Amino acid sequence: MRVALHNSQDVYKDAGSSVIFLMLKLHRKDQPAEKEVIADMADRIQAIQRSMNIRAEHANLKIAFGFSNDAWEYLFPGAKKPKELETFQEIKGDRHTAVSTPADLFLHLRATDEAVVYEVCDQIMDFLRPVTDVVDETHGFRYFEGRAIIGFIDGTENPVGDEAAEWGIISDEDPDFAGGSYAFAQKYIHDMDAWKSLPTHMQEKVIGRRKFSDIELDDDEKDPHAHNIIAQDNRDDKEHKIVRMNVPFSNPGQNETGTYFIGYARYWNVTKQMLTNMFTQNDKLLDYSTPITGALFFIPSRDVLDAIAE
Ligand code: HEM
Repeated sequence: MRVALHNSQDVYKDAGSSVIFLMLKLHRKDQPAEKEVIADMADRIQAIQRSMNIRAEHANLKIAFGFSNDAWEYLFPGAKKPKELETFQEIKGDRHTAVSTPADLFLHLRATDEAVVYEVCDQIMDFLRPVTDVVDETHGFRYFEGRAIIGFIDGTENPVGDEAAEWGIISDEDPDFAGGSYAFAQKYIHDMDAWKSLPTHMQEKVIGRRKFSDIELDDDEKDPHAHNIIAQDNRDDKEHKIVRMNVPFSNPGQNETGTYFIGYARYWNVTKQMLTNMFTQNDKLLDYSTPITGALFFIPSRDVLDAIAE
């Protein structure tokens, strides 16, 4: 299957060691002026990336920038839309709710060096600040060998290489938007006191894997509502995948610690199915994790971003 890779933004690899996530809201005061700023974003991002690749060539800078459905309709009224782009609607289960956060723009920046992420974010925000307000800003970090802050390796079952592109990037099913991706961003706060008081073998049942070795448990050892059972999308007896690049964040002084979930998908309906399973079938992980944001964004290919406001 052909997947348009060449012009996609940085959506299917490198979770990074230092990460900034920004959800922004447009002022919605002067649409033509706001649209003009957005129209310049492709050039702006390319110039910053080019320069930073010289200034800090080993920092492995990655940038993804995208739009919510609301932003798309506001900025480009009447224009064709990516097939699956919609406003994320809250998912309410008996015990847990995936909240929906109104937001327009999304930035996901990562690199091996925090100074680079700071500098790039500041340069982009010099440009966006006059037309936006910040809805959420989260600074994440790589935790040891790529563990979630709850101590388990995160991302083991992620598709990699060509398979990651195949599950992460839109192709011929939506030719006008090939090279794009659906990013779902969700900020979780963990009840770390409760989690830490759970013995390791019980934590392992919740996740469905061993904590140190990352080996998967047999199904009969797992809690029936283990995260790695419930979160899977196995519709039509097939395994449907997304590319997850979660990172931890924390303000330890305030005992505020969480996971910033970010899933890139070729098909939004796959991420949506995973979320629906988790929240309506009481994924055990949610007993220790509460989402405080949630929004869907379309990350256009560089070509579409270039052409977007013409
Ligand atoms: C697996 C952590 C939220 C989808 C895992 C694993 C961990 C983990 C440790 C096992 C290793 C791996 O395969 O990556 C977390 C944390 C979350 C979170 C800390 C937030 C609190 C989500 C959400 C989704 C999701 C919101 C979907 C929208 C998956 C999938 C798997 C997985 C599909 C792989 C299942 C398999 O095929 O074995 N997650 N996750 N996770 N997670 Fe999450």
